[in-house]
Amino acid sequence: MHRTKNDLSSKVRSKVIATLGDRLADATDLMLQTKQAHWNVKGENFIALHELFDKINGAAGEWADLIAERIVMLGGTAEGTVQATARRTSLAPYSLKIVGGADHVEALSSALADFGKKVRADIDKTGKAGDADTADLFTEVSRDVDKYVWFVESHNQGN
Ligand SMILES: [Fe+2]
Repeated sequence: MHRTKNDLSSKVRSKVIATLGDRLADATDLMLQTKQAHWNVKGENFIALHELFDKINGAAGEWADLIAERIVMLGGTAEGTVQATARRTSLAPYSLKIVGGADHVEALSSALADFGKKVRADIDKTGKAGDADTADLFTEVSRDVDKYVWFVESHNQGN
């Protein structure tokens, strides 16, 4: 870890940096999964899904940015390369074979919900570790993820 004048103890910071690093890999993975869906979706809801998936790509980029910069301000190194992301992500691989809108909706809502579940657990984990600010950051991300789970999964509901 890098030296910092931040008053959180190095024990707290190293614990929290590890958790943040796990979620950074997932958020970066989500950035690519949403682009995969944005580029390849076809079918009757094409334009709505094409645009929604790109909007979520922007949101995932903001989540990654918040998480990465928190890592660095705590004295850690943000692992932002595609190689580090591939090694560390906990999300299921996104199938290259998905074409239809309903299948992209199913795959992407599952990925977002899995990410959301882990972020929610991280609120408690980092709060208990002694870093209320990171817990607050995860709370902010969690609320946004819940919204996008709703936006995506609603396309396959109500029938
Ligand atoms: Fe585009």
